[in-house]
Amino acid sequence: MDARKLLGARLLVVTGKGGTGKTSVAAALAVAAAAKGHEVLLAEVEGRQGLARLFDLPALAHEEAPVGERLSGLAVDPKAALREYLDGAGVPVLGTLLDKAGLGDLVTAAAPGLGDALLVGKIAQVARRGVYDLVVLDAPPSGRIVSFLGAAAGLAGLARFGPVADQAGAVADLLTDPALTQVVLTTLPEALPVTEALQTAEELRSAGINVGLAVANQVGDGALAEGGDRLPALAADPAPLRRAAQAAGLDLSDAALAALVREGLGRERRLAAERSQLGRLREGLGAKADLIELPVVPGGVTDPAGVLAMARHLRRLGPRAGRRTATGATA
Ligand SMILES: Nc1ncnc2c1ncn2[C@@H]1O[C@H](COP(=O)(O)OP(=O)(O)OP(=O)(O)O)[C@@H](O)[C@H]1O
Ligand SMILES: [Mg+2]
Repeated sequence: MDARKLLGARLLVVTGKGGTGKTSVAAALAVAAAAKGHEVLLAEVEGRQGLARLFDLPALAHEEAPVGERLSGLAVDPKAALREYLDGAGVPVLGTLLDKAGLGDLVTAAAPGLGDALLVGKIAQVARRGVYDLVVLDAPPSGRIVSFLGAAAGLAGLARFGPVADQAGAVADLLTDPALTQVVLTTLPEALPVTEALQTAEELRSAGINVGLAVANQVGDGALAEGGDRLPALAADPAPLRRAAQAAGLDLSDAALAALVREGLGRERRLAAERSQLGRLREGLGAKADLIELPVVPGGVTDPAGVLAMARHLRRLGPRAGRRTATGATA
């Protein structure tokens, strides 16, 4: 998908290999979308409170709460989601009979995937409610994302009629409609994360879920130096460099010159390796997904300033908020 249309979706599912920047990128996407005038909900489902830390908040709760301008936060709790589901399905008495611990047991024991189905169901319900233009989900890692997103459909196999089946159908409709749901894949410009990103993109597409954007995070700064191909020769013999330095009035020892050249050489090799991985990523993704590169944020992404620094690099994402059509696309 063209990155200029990405924010027109209703739900962005941010996934990627562990530690590649899912939480940071989800937060930055939400902040970038809010800055473009969208009413945004940023949600997490793993009970880790990773988002709260980025916004200097003690915690996010199962109830949506303001986090910033046009930005709300939500940490979905499976037990609370089950109670809501039972209430909504017309069996509130069951939810009341089971105390909190009982609900927890039910989530883990009743059926494999029930916990995930409840989490996805809650996200889908919030996304469909239409209160927010956009829901950004800090989702589970790529190794689990296909089973996570497919959990509701899995349960539908158990119940072909009734509220479980109805809800599963509604979730699947939302997740597989490219106008409504897009996956954002985070990766690093390194071999293994790129391989995992490409595999995940394939698996998601096979499951009918659209991957609209890949974010290559922590990409090295700067272009390859002109004449960088001469560095290996200079590393072996710095004499020409010594003469040039002397002519410029610089008296540097051979050891100092050799160290400088080695450092330059290391940087060139790192950048070249990154460019090659990014090329592999771009080619493997094909035309269906856009690719954005994010630089290293000095000091990491640990607070609102770090999130804002990331969000600034997402400025080319669009569109700005506008009137929505019935399908959820922005007119
Ligand atoms: N562009 C960046 N520049 C510098 N540091 C970054 C950048 N993006 C992320 N980080 C840092 O990398 C680490 C991992 O980022 P993050 O927590 O967002 O990844 P994650 O994919 O959510 O991890 P997990 O799999 O544990 O949930 C964090 O310490 C974060 O501050
Ligand atoms: Mg995370």
